[in-house]
Amino acid sequence: MTNSIYIDQEEILKRYKQPDKKTHKGIQGHALIIGGSYGKIGAVSLSSKACLKTGCGLVTVFIPKCGYDILQISIPEVMVLTDIQEEMISNFTFDFTPQAIGIGPGLGQAVETQNALHQFLKTNTIPLVIDADGLNIISKNKKLLDLVQPKTVITPHPKELERLIGKWDSEEEKMSKAISFSKQHQVIIVMKGAPTRIIDGESVYENTTGNAALATAGTGDVLTGMITSLLAQSYETIDAAILGVYLHGLTADIALPETGYQSFIASDVIANIGKAFL
Ligand code: APR
Ligand code: MG
Repeated sequence: MTNSIYIDQEEILKRYKQPDKKTHKGIQGHALIIGGSYGKIGAVSLSSKACLKTGCGLVTVFIPKCGYDILQISIPEVMVLTDIQEEMISNFTFDFTPQAIGIGPGLGQAVETQNALHQFLKTNTIPLVIDADGLNIISKNKKLLDLVQPKTVITPHPKELERLIGKWDSEEEKMSKAISFSKQHQVIIVMKGAPTRIIDGESVYENTTGNAALATAGTGDVLTGMITSLLAQSYETIDAAILGVYLHGLTADIALPETGYQSFIASDVIANIGKAFL
């Protein structure tokens, strides 16, 4: 029997942790966002900015060389590491230990990048969020699922979910396949949609915030940054996923009277993260 829980303000307040007055950036968590490829550096910009705005102390991005100037100029608060390749990532190497890693926004699926993800998953023990092309690469080679450590958060949109779990004929079948997948691979699935549902083995959490204004390019990349940020701040994995999804939806509810459905863009999510926390 599946346990179903609505995520409303009361559930969120049980999970939210106020930062300590004496905290400093070194203990607010250091997050790493890995992604980007030629023409998709914006996805990493959005994700890393959202990561900072969700409260972690430090954010580093790992991107192909072509994104270096873009990132440094557009988000001065973010530190930038680059791959040896100009247009895609070929090897995830970094010389520090982040508290959480988000992989996938704008990543692309070059063969070199597929190999790099494979090598990385073999040894990674750091809390991880996998999104977008990170998931698409795994869908192409399902053996990679055996390398994904327990409690990894995956954030598929409906097409990415289908590539992972296969087609479904009804909403019930989709849920039962997703629940089995979550149990089998011990992953937390953020099933993005309207509404977004979070699946953690036995339990299904249904989010109550958000609206159709979110149906615009880059809002998924922003969500990845937000969940990675909360993981880096030592939230329990399930709480990071729940709180991230709730706050992300709430930004759209807050902004809607000003932007309407049509002119809301992913940067408006980022701009309203502060109000969502308040
Ligand atoms: N109501 C509520 N929320 C919605 C709605 C809606 N009608 N439509 C979309 N959303 C939310 C989803 O729940 C999710 O959080 O907006 C977000 C969209 O995320 P993605 O589908 O991942 O979109 P995004 O990643 O921003 O779009 C560009 O698409 O195919 C991918 O990987 C590709 O990164 C690229 C991306
Ligand atoms: Mg996406």
